[in-house]
Amino acid sequence: MFYENKKVIVTGAAGFIGSNLTDKLLELGAGVIGIDNLFNGRIENLDDAMKNKNFQFHKADVRDLNFLLEICEDVDIIFHEAAFASVPQSVKMPENCNDVNVNGILNVLNAARRMDVKKVVFASSSSVYGETPGLKKNEEMRRVPISPYGAAKLACEAYMYVYYHVYGLKTTSLRYFNVFGPRQRDDSPYTGVIAIWFNRARNDQNLIVFGDGEQSRDFTYVKDVVQANILVGEKDAAGEIINIGAGNPITLNNLGKLILKLTGKENLKLEYTDPRPGDIKHSFADLSKAKNMLGFQPKYKQEEGLREYFKWYVKIHNLNLKIN
Ligand SMILES: NC(=O)c1ccc[n+]([C@@H]2O[C@H](COP(=O)([O-])OP(=O)(O)OC[C@H]3O[C@@H](n4cnc5c(N)ncnc54)[C@H](O)[C@@H]3O)[C@@H](O)[C@H]2O)c1
Repeated sequence: MFYENKKVIVTGAAGFIGSNLTDKLLELGAGVIGIDNLFNGRIENLDDAMKNKNFQFHKADVRDLNFLLEICEDVDIIFHEAAFASVPQSVKMPENCNDVNVNGILNVLNAARRMDVKKVVFASSSSVYGETPGLKKNEEMRRVPISPYGAAKLACEAYMYVYYHVYGLKTTSLRYFNVFGPRQRDDSPYTGVIAIWFNRARNDQNLIVFGDGEQSRDFTYVKDVVQANILVGEKDAAGEIINIGAGNPITLNNLGKLILKLTGKENLKLEYTDPRPGDIKHSFADLSKAKNMLGFQPKYKQEEGLREYFKWYVKIHNLNLKIN
């Protein structure tokens, strides 16, 4: 009931997470304004949303303050998902990453403040932890980002907090841990490892591992990330930073084996190559704060999420591939 008749903005609405969030918000009865400059998003991701009378889309850039001021009138919540969202690309183009992410969030926060938007929820990232020692990351730990992307996300979190502290704007940052699922891009070298490996497996190619494959990740199904955003909208978590993950790490070696099992391609191998700069060795979410503050509980085990994602992919692309 909470979202019925609420007016919300989703930035990055044509992207992977933004479009999944948009669909859920519409299902819950919100009026959604989606904005995206289509730098990495795909308009087809919004095919369902476009059929809904409560949705409007603007091809626009979050660095355009005047535009944001225009659309923020009477808005209850902004879900800020738009970003320069690739770690390896940020290593190549740190200035662009900073411009989109840091100047982008400043615009969103300034527009929200000037137009009396009630709440801003921000898509931060586990990359802010970087080299922080310890497998299980909690929000109180020191943050030592090791990529321009991680540094930019940390700066964004700081601005989120400052706009709460100084101006009283209700802001919450969610630190997502490696998200996967339907609509994730699978057509670029900068995409997440699950999409790349699934693509390789179905094309009968060995899976390429950067490093020794013993690095672990907390792969989180996109529907759990959407659930977390929905909860933040409803609850009071102003000024907070909260981890959102599966709370269940898996090494890349084991992930590779699982993907080969699910796709029935156990004849393929993992092929090892040099580690990538900016890559984190271990990362896994302590979810205590998310549980206590939001009542968040991940609903998807990694194998379940992978199966649902691959089945979706096979259906959408009309592939002749059985998912086990
Ligand atoms: N996917 C993950 O594993 C993950 C993990 C941690 C955090 N995040 C964060 O979650 C958010 C969504 O990520 P995603 O995986 O859906 O990536 P995505 O690239 O699919 O979505 C980002 C969207 O933002 C849009 N965009 C980029 N620059 C823009 C600009 N200047 N103005 C307007 N729109 C712009 C892109 O076109 C894209 O549609 C990002 O903030 C990302 O940093 C993602």
